[in-house]
Amino acid sequence: MFELVGVSPVENCLAGFNSSILAYGKTGSGKTYTMWGPANTLLEDKIINDQQDQTPRANQAFQQLQYQCHCSFLEIYNEQITDLLDPNQRNLQIREEVNSRVYVENLTEEYVSSVRDVTRLLIKGLSNRRIGATSINSESSRSHTVFTCVVESRCKSTADISSFKTSRINLVDLAGSE
Ligand SMILES: Nc1ncnc2c1ncn2[C@@H]1O[C@H](COP(=O)(O)OP(=O)(O)OP(=O)(O)O)[C@@H](O)[C@H]1O
Ligand SMILES: [Mg+2]
Repeated sequence: MFELVGVSPVENCLAGFNSSILAYGKTGSGKTYTMWGPANTLLEDKIINDQQDQTPRANQAFQQLQYQCHCSFLEIYNEQITDLLDPNQRNLQIREEVNSRVYVENLTEEYVSSVRDVTRLLIKGLSNRRIGATSINSESSRSHTVFTCVVESRCKSTADISSFKTSRINLVDLAGSE
């Protein structure tokens, strides 16, 4: 699934374009499984340890290409936005800046420099989601969740001139409908 729909949004994001991947469909159809993997997989030490191998390489790439990434994770439930990285922050407001950028006020943004950092944030956020049982799915998502990774890149063309790009990729796991 990642090769089919995930690769080009990631490449677009690194090239400076915004991208979103949305999982949409009825309850129990596999949206959450498809977005985040089988339940508790992220929690297994094995996965985190396996990814240690990738970390130095990922860090190296970040340094050479001068990328900086930060992530946020929010939930929309009953029209209210909750910060999944700090669930005490409820009912956050959507704001628009003069330049038309739309953002969620006071949403936690954590800097990441490796796959391991991102995995930690996913584990933390997913544990704070609201779930409930439907007749079809015992662990049904009762909210929409949006994981956002913002990539800031700096490209140094000459000694004096550098260009900056900011782009974001949104991973959206929508609540199911019955
Ligand atoms: N490809 C798959 N392989 C094995 N199990 C799967 C697969 N896709 C989904 N499942 C299982 O099916 C059940 C329902 O999947 P999931 O929770 O992802 O549905 P959902 O679309 O997110 O539902 P809801 O809208 O209620 O949140 C879960 O127990 C999940 O582990
Ligand atoms: Mg779900």
